[in-house]
Amino acid sequence: MQTIRGFRDILPESIALWQKIEKEAVQLFTAFGFKEIRIPVIEKTQLFARSIGEATDIVEKEMYTFADRKGDLLTLRPEGTASIVRSYVQHKMYASDPVRRFFTIGPMFRRERPQKGRYRQFYQIDVEVFGIASAYMDSQLIFMLNELFLRLGLTDLSAHINSLGCQECRPAFQTALLNFISSKKDQLCENCLRRVDKNPLRILDCKTPSCKAALENAPATLDHLCKDCEDHFNTVKTNLKKQGVAFIEDRSLVRGLDYYTRTAWEIQTTALGAQSAVAGGGRYDGLVKEIGGPATPGIGFAIGFDRLVEVMEQMGNLPEELPLDLFIVAMGDDAMEKCYHWSCELNQKGICTEMDFGSKSMKALMKRADKLNAQYVLIAGETELAQDAVILRNMNTKEQVTVPTQTLISELTRILKNNDIKK
Ligand code: HAM
Repeated sequence: MQTIRGFRDILPESIALWQKIEKEAVQLFTAFGFKEIRIPVIEKTQLFARSIGEATDIVEKEMYTFADRKGDLLTLRPEGTASIVRSYVQHKMYASDPVRRFFTIGPMFRRERPQKGRYRQFYQIDVEVFGIASAYMDSQLIFMLNELFLRLGLTDLSAHINSLGCQECRPAFQTALLNFISSKKDQLCENCLRRVDKNPLRILDCKTPSCKAALENAPATLDHLCKDCEDHFNTVKTNLKKQGVAFIEDRSLVRGLDYYTRTAWEIQTTALGAQSAVAGGGRYDGLVKEIGGPATPGIGFAIGFDRLVEVMEQMGNLPEELPLDLFIVAMGDDAMEKCYHWSCELNQKGICTEMDFGSKSMKALMKRADKLNAQYVLIAGETELAQDAVILRNMNTKEQVTVPTQTLISELTRILKNNDIKK
């Protein structure tokens, strides 16, 4: 049996990096006042169709949707924002305190063509803020994201930012875009021809070469911003400049989801071929209302966890494997029983200890200790135990000392907790 296409196992060999990233992210987000939220991986299909948009690639062709036994249409979540908005509205969080900061980490599902950096089950580190309309929130989120990448040692990334306007200025932009497109219809793909009426902004996001060529000089949202949107965007940019966060103003950035208003951004890399976005996000001031809550501003981003791991692996930016503190070699049945109890006690004390419960030879067990990169080996042979002692061997210096069994645990704890080999 094999995993299905686009799905994969993340094996223990590579998990240290995932854990390191997660730890850094949680620590940083917590310092910025974010709280973890956990949401289901399955929701009603309608939630995603309404929020991400009927005419987006995600909703049109990438969702894992199925009818459950009662015939209700359900979907494996393709992203986290819609579910967190649903949760905010469902639990009426706005009533007690409209200002909420959340993060969540977990798997998302999109039926895209699998390739390097693109999977059908992938992981996102997702951040969402509700109830803050100020441009200071936009710059703070981009600053925080940048800080996370700096802490992870990533310097080769570029932040692309754009403003997509709001309800006020979007119609004028759409009219300009439709005027522009009217002379290019013969160059557009079938999907985009459908989108002309449904959702013309989506045409700007089409990856078909003929559409891309046709839209090369298409009007940009930036040229049609209303005064408020322009001021908002200027504040974001000024803040980022003052904070030393480098960014590129990218007029062609539209993002693949419909809910965005005003600031939108992507963090891009050249390390993953066609999959250039390591993170993406933006403001979505109309979404909470769309999902049935009171008008509440929202903003957030999601990091592609798998992509971030791959960029760091390529850079050779890997955390050190923690060595095994102690391997216990028990020779004979009596020794086995004693060693078993010592081993569990050391594990309880947080000392990474392993032993073999079989009856292998001394040579085989020492080989295993080497393979596990054990820093110390405790040898409990019959002769030593008869004198209430064991041998402790430092695998680095090859020095051996005899330790009395009575003081064994405290002595081992002292030595291994101050283990200078590990440091
Ligand atoms: P998104 O741009 O669709 O935004 O996804 C965010 C990130 O998830 C991408 O930049 C990419 O790194 C990663 N990603 C997307 N699809 C795949 C895939 N098939 N395989 C591997 N990685 C992938 C969102 O999902 C929005 N919900 C972000 C957001 C949060 N906006 C506001 N709040």
